[in-house]
Amino acid sequence: MRQPLVIANWKLNGSRDLLKAFADYATSQSAESATLPVAQVICPPVIFLAEAVRQYPDMVFGAQHCSEHTSGAFTGETSTGMLQSVGCRYVLVGHSERRALFGETDAQVAAKAKAIQQAGMTPVVCVGETEAERDGNETSAVILKQLEAGLEGVDLAKLVIAYEPVWAIGTGKTASPEQAQEVHALIRSWLQKQNSSVAENMQLLYGGSVKPDNARDLFSQVDIDGGLIGAASLEPHQFAAICKAAQDS
Ligand code: 13P
Repeated sequence: MRQPLVIANWKLNGSRDLLKAFADYATSQSAESATLPVAQVICPPVIFLAEAVRQYPDMVFGAQHCSEHTSGAFTGETSTGMLQSVGCRYVLVGHSERRALFGETDAQVAAKAKAIQQAGMTPVVCVGETEAERDGNETSAVILKQLEAGLEGVDLAKLVIAYEPVWAIGTGKTASPEQAQEVHALIRSWLQKQNSSVAENMQLLYGGSVKPDNARDLFSQVDIDGGLIGAASLEPHQFAAICKAAQDS
């Protein structure tokens, strides 16, 4: 039985006030949320992480990015050791915005995922096809290549994978539950070929315009174990409603 997992990716948004709003909301709902068997992770901009972990010890935090290097002349970067030392537990890797805007390659995704694991945190490796790739019937090939190359040498037992079709991110165009399930099933069958118990236990998340009103249908698919949420994770009520949908399905 896989525990549902919902991760908030705030991207370049949010503030200390928003963190407080989330914490206050969680406290106000504590009787109900204490019974929620859903793991929740907030990934704010990295500048807020250390203080967030200190101030809100009941919440779990992740980073949106890390360097694959442990130290050195890499201006602006943050190492996995630094993230771990302030209490960060998860790190997103290979998000399509990092791939498209910052040129992150599959080889870097694998190097980062390994560095995250070595530091004792959990990588959340993102995969997904563009609209042109879907239209060209290349979805499966793209996903399999991202898995093969982006997970090379990575310990599959200590990992979360998120499927985020690029065309569904921030566009309001969610993948249908069937489209999402088809790719999740592909990912799980790829995992099955590597190791059947890993395949059985891996939390596979869907991301791309998940909102309270479509979350339930997506999360009720057999191979969808939760979500990676962008815009709707910036509002405590919406994020809570998505977590509730993960619990109910
Ligand atoms: P949206 O939920 O805003 O589409 O973003 C999804 C995403 O990229 C989460 O990582």
